[in-house]
Amino acid sequence: MSAPNKSYDPVEVEALKPEEIERMRDEALAAFAAADSLDALHEAKVAHTGPASPLALANREIGALPPHAKADAGKRVGQARGAVNKGLAARQAELEAERDARVLVEEAVDVTLPYDRVPAGARHPLTTMMERVADVFVAMGYEVAEGPEAEAEWFNFDALNFLPDHPARQMQDTFFVQGPKGTEESGSGVVLRTHTSPVQARALLDRELPVYIVCPGRVFRTDELDATHTPVFHQIELLAIDEGLTMADLKGTLDHMVQSLFGEDMKTRLRPNYFPFTEPSAEMDMLCYVCKGESIGNPDRPCRTCSSEGWIELGGCGMVNPRVLTACGVDPEKYSGFAFGFGIERMLMFRHNVEDMRDMVEGDVRFTRPFGMEI
Ligand code: FA5
Repeated sequence: MSAPNKSYDPVEVEALKPEEIERMRDEALAAFAAADSLDALHEAKVAHTGPASPLALANREIGALPPHAKADAGKRVGQARGAVNKGLAARQAELEAERDARVLVEEAVDVTLPYDRVPAGARHPLTTMMERVADVFVAMGYEVAEGPEAEAEWFNFDALNFLPDHPARQMQDTFFVQGPKGTEESGSGVVLRTHTSPVQARALLDRELPVYIVCPGRVFRTDELDATHTPVFHQIELLAIDEGLTMADLKGTLDHMVQSLFGEDMKTRLRPNYFPFTEPSAEMDMLCYVCKGESIGNPDRPCRTCSSEGWIELGGCGMVNPRVLTACGVDPEKYSGFAFGFGIERMLMFRHNVEDMRDMVEGDVRFTRPFGMEI
């Protein structure tokens, strides 16, 4: 067995020679100083302090040295590695400080610049009004139903018991959709629906009984655009068909609706009227939500909202005519029900003191904006 090589001197090992260790240290420090970015510094770090770096390889050589030479070589390599790590940390700190200063300048926000004054869009008050009314009934378990705006004459008129000579069928009330070959105006059998009531007939034909639906939608009449009329407006329709429904249910439902929309102390009243599809039919009024009826016969307390009448007209209602039930295949001996419908534009007018309906259709944001950005 051979004895350890006592004469093995670290200065004779190429990688451990003092000048060699110094060269490795200086090269590392020069590479760090030359790195002009954190990425470049990372590359230099791997090259000069990683497991394959010259100093790491030199360190490995120490293990093969005789014991008396290890301390001297270890000290030299350790000092060089210490200096390299220190140099690396210093350059890292320098480059990070430069990056932070640059980011502060590049990503600075000038809070004194004027902000974007273009407001985000708002939904039209008619839409929010319609949804608010529909929500009252959805909360009671009603389903939202829809129908087409270009509607078959049969649904718009015949199914609803409008006789052929009813004045509403005349050209001066109804937009008739022209037939394909330029025939008579009414030849196509299609009209722009004049009310949301045709959805009553569609719901009865489509659904299982009982039926409880609410139908908001757009309707069309040949009315001139003026302060209280528009040719395109919105209605909301309600239909309830079940066993044993009476006028009392209709009245209770109407009272619940106005209380939900206008306050607990509100109520409605019914006045006789005529609609071909309800029997009996009524005009429904609600207590004026401003004066609560106190302006009636009281010159000291005039009310602009209801013109001191104490009541505001809402729309039409009644018990569904048995003829409508029969036309839709429902047995009127077993089932009964009620319906009502009213105009959303008119409701918006008196609820928000809008004096001219034209403001609602002109698309001027100065009208819409005061209603808020409600979504
Ligand atoms: C009807 O349209 C019936 N379908 C309502 C109904 C439903 C009755 C269910 C019974 C049972 P009327 O034609 O009265 O009814 O219209 C209802 C509401 O629509 C009116 O009260 C009014 O608020 C609104 N309205 C009518 N014409 C216009 C118009 N040109 N512009 C804006 N709103 C209108």
